[in-house]
Amino acid sequence: MHLSDEEKAMYDGRDGPAVQKAMDLLVRYGEALGAERLVETRNVCATITSTTPFQRDFAQTRGGMDAVFSEFSLDSQEVVPIPKFKVFTSHLQLGFDPGQPERMGIDTQTLQFYERSERHAAGLGAQIMNTCTPYQVGNVPTRGEHCAWMESSAVVYCNSVLGARTNTEGRESCGAAMLTARIPDWGYHRDENRHATHLVELDVEVESVQDWGLLGYFIGEQVQSGVPVVHRREGFGRAPNLPRLKHFGAAAASSGGVELFHLVGITPEAPTLDHALGGKKPIEVLRYGPAERRAAYERLNTTAREAEIQYVMLGCPHYTIEQIWEAAQLLEGRRLHPDVQLWIFTPRAIKALADRSGHTRIIEAAGGVLMTDSCSAMSRAVPPGTRAVALDSAKQAHYLPAILGVQAWFGSTAECIEAACTGRWQGGLK
Ligand code: F3S
Repeated sequence: MHLSDEEKAMYDGRDGPAVQKAMDLLVRYGEALGAERLVETRNVCATITSTTPFQRDFAQTRGGMDAVFSEFSLDSQEVVPIPKFKVFTSHLQLGFDPGQPERMGIDTQTLQFYERSERHAAGLGAQIMNTCTPYQVGNVPTRGEHCAWMESSAVVYCNSVLGARTNTEGRESCGAAMLTARIPDWGYHRDENRHATHLVELDVEVESVQDWGLLGYFIGEQVQSGVPVVHRREGFGRAPNLPRLKHFGAAAASSGGVELFHLVGITPEAPTLDHALGGKKPIEVLRYGPAERRAAYERLNTTAREAEIQYVMLGCPHYTIEQIWEAAQLLEGRRLHPDVQLWIFTPRAIKALADRSGHTRIIEAAGGVLMTDSCSAMSRAVPPGTRAVALDSAKQAHYLPAILGVQAWFGSTAECIEAACTGRWQGGLK
């Protein structure tokens, strides 16, 4: 791999052992991927803190938080002192909500260890955003900006909607990027890999958040790790907003491995179909009509059997303020069914906004709760006794039954709120 003089100096130890180990990791990782050089990045999104008893014991026996960072973020068994990050770094979601640990069955010791690790990460320079949607709360990279992000739903949004450039990185490569401001130049950092491979022609209007989730779920299954470009006929529905794009990308990254998509006339690298395809022919043309839409809906609802539900989870990916406002409007003046719990997940910063705007009060008056930092799939936590859950997220409907063995109903936000208030799923594809 070609290294610049600055990179050679870091590799040779000029900036200390942690940076040296980070460079060594990046060179080995880059060479394994066939990268010929590194690119500079000034934007990393990653998990840094620790939430497990295993990491707590590790810290106690091996040398504190530096040992945890060395092992889990630098893949180094040797404990090295960790210097401040060189790069603007945002913290992703965690395994529980530290503001409401009791709901997720988290004991005091684990909470205290997490708080210690949060202070450590903040001291190194991490922004404690604690969300899978950093682009909602102050981390909005610009078109062409090289990033090093983890979290598939954030990666696909970063690449596709913002036109910035990242692969789906891991904790270790992100840890190395924080200390060096470098990441291997391969995959979606390079122009030649950003053109569409599959063309999707729409034969139905795609309008609601649910519709965009269904379309994403269909596309992910079909193209797997390809790059889809969606072509809508003239006058076919309104342009999707942030929640719709967020649900679409998250769904495509769940049923498949989509890290980049293009929507002709909407996303930055698709002003025209030809532009998105890079002048080449697609390897496949897919049609999405009523039959494909229904099939995606049925696949997402395959685990659902019992109409009685015990739990409604909203906020995957983390809800926007607009989605919280909508949920609050649907809940205003109503009460949840006594056997149902409603958890809505959002970033900490958006919760503060929802608190000030009065939405939290309305949700709580109905019996629901607004939570942060995590979700049921990440925390593996649902209210006790949950057998069936209602969801408005294709991504969560894809993962939660597999993770926790619960039944999942997937539908619109309004259907989920209705289920929360009646205790029964009455939804169906319109
Ligand atoms: Fe976020 Fe959890 Fe969904 S971390 S994308 S809400 S699975």
